[in-house]
Amino acid sequence: MAIRSLALYHLKGGVGKTATAVNLAYCAVRSGLYTLLVDLDPQGSATYYFRVKPKFKKGAGGLVRGGKTLAHNIKASDYTNLDILPADFSFRRLDRNLEERKTPRSRFGKVFQPLLNEYDLVIFDCPPGLTTVSENIFNLVDLLLLPVIPTTLSMHSLEQILGFLKKKKYHSAQVSAFFSMVERRKKLHRAMMLEGEKLPIDVLSSVIPYRSEVERMGLERRPVPEFAPNSSSAHAYLALWEELRRRYGVEK
Ligand SMILES: Nc1ncnc2c1ncn2[C@@H]1O[C@H](COP(=O)(O)OP(=O)(O)OP(=O)(O)O)[C@@H](O)[C@H]1O
Ligand SMILES: [Mg+2]
Repeated sequence: MAIRSLALYHLKGGVGKTATAVNLAYCAVRSGLYTLLVDLDPQGSATYYFRVKPKFKKGAGGLVRGGKTLAHNIKASDYTNLDILPADFSFRRLDRNLEERKTPRSRFGKVFQPLLNEYDLVIFDCPPGLTTVSENIFNLVDLLLLPVIPTTLSMHSLEQILGFLKKKKYHSAQVSAFFSMVERRKKLHRAMMLEGEKLPIDVLSSVIPYRSEVERMGLERRPVPEFAPNSSSAHAYLALWEELRRRYGVEK
């Protein structure tokens, strides 16, 4: 069955979750899908990249209550068929707001269902950490997509996440990883990527290289394929998107 939602997630910060969420959302729209990007990170980086104001009316409490508040907060991006649900600084309290509900770990299922029905694809950009928000995401999405920098610590956090998912029996979502911010000239990166073959999850063959264009997204405030369409990183994000489509099926 085709997936309708995916989340860029990792316990560790700064591994390329947001850069990937932004570029994949753009690739999804370019291939004809009506797409929503949900920014759950109080830092609001994905919101910023899409030039949207980091403001969610009624804040974290409103998000967790759900209902019409979500639809009222959706903003159009500069790209047809790509909408953004912006983050708000109050999202730093999302965990506390979730803990006050009867089903704190599966509340997002109720809250986001109407949007999952409305869009062809919903992409979540998660904050780092392993929190109540993360557990809601594990319960909600069809695919957890983990960017992994090929370094010892990043691989170690990946093992921690996989251990947690197994222990808590979060089997509902498919889990997939890809190597992010890769510098092939580094021996350690090459060695760690070989280790990837031993992981008990799908490791995608597409790799996102470490490139200055990706950092430039902060100045351009546009996805990489918009301002550097011929760059290797634009090609890498497109290849990652195509691989996801082939592997998991993403359809209208
Ligand atoms: N492929 C890449 N090449 C070069 N720089 C990158 C790449 N991917 C991300 N970056 C840069 O690394 C930093 C962290 O990336 P990003 O914000 O995507 O990570 P993150 O996992 O979302 O971080 P956080 O956990 O803080 O949300 C940013 O400054 C970004 O521009
Ligand atoms: Mg981020």
